[in-house]
Amino acid sequence: MLTAEYEAVANHERPKGVIISRHLSKYALIFLFLALSGLFFLLRNILTLENLSCHACSTLLSQAAFAQKGPIPPYHNSTFCSHLGLEPTPDEALEDRYLFNTIAWPKLPARPAPAPLIQTTDPVHSLFTILPSNGRREWHVGDQLEALVQMHDFQGRPKRYGGDFLVARLHSPELGAGVAGKVVDHLNGSYSALFPLLWGGPARVEITMVHSSEAVAVLQRLREQRPNRVFFKSLFRSGKLSETTMCIPCLPPNYPQQPLCNYTDLHTGEPWYCLKPKLLSCDTRINHAMGGYQKPLYTNKEELLFQSHVNIKVVIRASGPDRISVLSKKIELENSSIKPEPVKYIPSGYYYQGSWRSFGGTPARQFKDSSSVTQCLTGKVINMYGDSTVRQWFEYLSAFVPEFNLHRPKKVGPLMAVDSKHNILLKYRCHGPPIRILPVSTSELRYVANELDGLAGGPNTVVVLSLWAHFTSFPLEVYIRRMRHIRQALVRLLDRGPGTLVVIRSANFVAMDQETSMHSSDWFSLQLDRVLRTMFTGLGVVFVDAWEMTLAHHLPHNIHPPPAIIKNMVDLILSHVCPDKKMKS
Ligand SMILES: *[C@@H]1O[C@H](CO)[C@@H](O)[C@H](O)[C@H]1NC(C)=O
Ligand SMILES: *[C@@H]1O[C@H](CO)[C@@H](O)[C@H](O)[C@H]1NC(C)=O
Ligand SMILES: *[C@@H]1O[C@H](CO)[C@@H](O)[C@H](O)[C@H]1NC(C)=O
Ligand SMILES: *[C@@H]1O[C@H](CO)[C@@H](O)[C@H](O)[C@H]1NC(C)=O
Repeated sequence: MLTAEYEAVANHERPKGVIISRHLSKYALIFLFLALSGLFFLLRNILTLENLSCHACSTLLSQAAFAQKGPIPPYHNSTFCSHLGLEPTPDEALEDRYLFNTIAWPKLPARPAPAPLIQTTDPVHSLFTILPSNGRREWHVGDQLEALVQMHDFQGRPKRYGGDFLVARLHSPELGAGVAGKVVDHLNGSYSALFPLLWGGPARVEITMVHSSEAVAVLQRLREQRPNRVFFKSLFRSGKLSETTMCIPCLPPNYPQQPLCNYTDLHTGEPWYCLKPKLLSCDTRINHAMGGYQKPLYTNKEELLFQSHVNIKVVIRASGPDRISVLSKKIELENSSIKPEPVKYIPSGYYYQGSWRSFGGTPARQFKDSSSVTQCLTGKVINMYGDSTVRQWFEYLSAFVPEFNLHRPKKVGPLMAVDSKHNILLKYRCHGPPIRILPVSTSELRYVANELDGLAGGPNTVVVLSLWAHFTSFPLEVYIRRMRHIRQALVRLLDRGPGTLVVIRSANFVAMDQETSMHSSDWFSLQLDRVLRTMFTGLGVVFVDAWEMTLAHHLPHNIHPPPAIIKNMVDLILSHVCPDKKMKS
């Protein structure tokens, strides 16, 4: 899990329900510690304020800056993240509005107080039914299957409003087959799950409630009101003096007047700020790292909405059979006057015998052995940028292209792999902040848009991007702004080097519990995923639909999908790098 990676550095969390006296004693301890360590370090002629500043930063964050209560500010107007960045142009503001509309989520009905748990959605009391096809329980390949879901609360009463986050898949373990379904919210407590029937034989419907509508409302509040629930830190060093301070992209408008270091990127305008160290100057920042998680975030009542095995990712039962048998295509229909119903929902692909078959465009090929991979990559430079989910692809491919040791930490990079015989170069670099990472040197901390501006491009250049997992905890404008800068750089790259292949990976499902839901819930990822697709459609880039590829697969959700899925993803990319000329027709 990504969080496992964070844990190594996220060691300044505060326990829930901290009380003042404990703070006082903590301070006393810190001062004692400081006094002793000051003495100790003075003796050795070294002064380090690392421990002080990190206690200071989490306390400061949670008490001074975020103690504010009151009404939620308007959705996309006055959140904390907008006022320190550049003003959007009128065109950008228009696009923002459009994007926010495409991801609008149904609101809870207005009521004086939050619903008690017993009136919230309970997946165990909820049921789905497979609807007959044209009045008969007979299905053929090419038909569309519909299942109707009725949600209930913990008292067994039907829900009367929508907004629950449901996902659906149709699968067949016998055939190694699976496809993501589309869920339609009827806004009255019932939902339809639609599936295209793509293979003959057995098929089983699986519908899962990821979060109740009430839980989604909490996540929405966290995203807008607690944008710094994941925070970062930087180490400053000059000679023997070092200090650590907290860094974030978003500051509330009423942030206490505190000296800041402004690391806004001059090229892209991406904002980034750290608290100014007490003794050192801003230009002595030497690294960037994960700082920690703010706590507590949920109220006691809200906590009940995020219980593993109760209302996080719980499968909904069928009121009747949950499986069907799909017959082969109806041949006789071709010549009859009755036309089959048009398929309303087209997924981006499906698994059959464990292999992903992609719809639309280049058919996916299998790259079974090392020589087929090498042959495909011959003469190519593959530039990978993003989070650890694209690093997984680098790692997979480095089994075929020998890694060149740049003496950088494996989980941080940059990484490089070279096959000079076949003229193959593979590169990986993490994206710029916010990135929850082990300490990365400021010299290696680059924005993807700037890296893209450094490429000449052309038919031998492949660019692979994956940015999502570290943006889930921020208001959407942070992600939109980042992707907009990348899109501008891609347009320039494609003009400069026509024939450059650009591959973009979408978000995937992750393993979730109460803790991880706060900052990495699939609901946040879903929203980023929709924004990403909308923003990059029509640009001639290839999407790797990690969202559907992890939903349709039988293996458990994980922020780092297991090797079986990674192989399918890389095969899909290779199919675009070296399309089969014969199959392309
Ligand atoms: C943002 O809010 C201000 C008033 O607070 C309003 O004048 C402005 O039109 C709003 N902008 C958008 C894009 O809604
Ligand atoms: C909910 O809405 C759907 C679609 O409009 C409708 O078919 C269904 O009967 C409604 N259910 C209830 C309980 O009103
Ligand atoms: C930070 O620097 C950028 C670029 O120089 C500037 O536009 C911005 O206003 C600065 N931010 C603050 C809060 O001073
Ligand atoms: C269906 O129509 C095609 C020509 O349109 C014809 O060749 C074929 O024999 C017909 N099949 C049947 C079963 O009638």
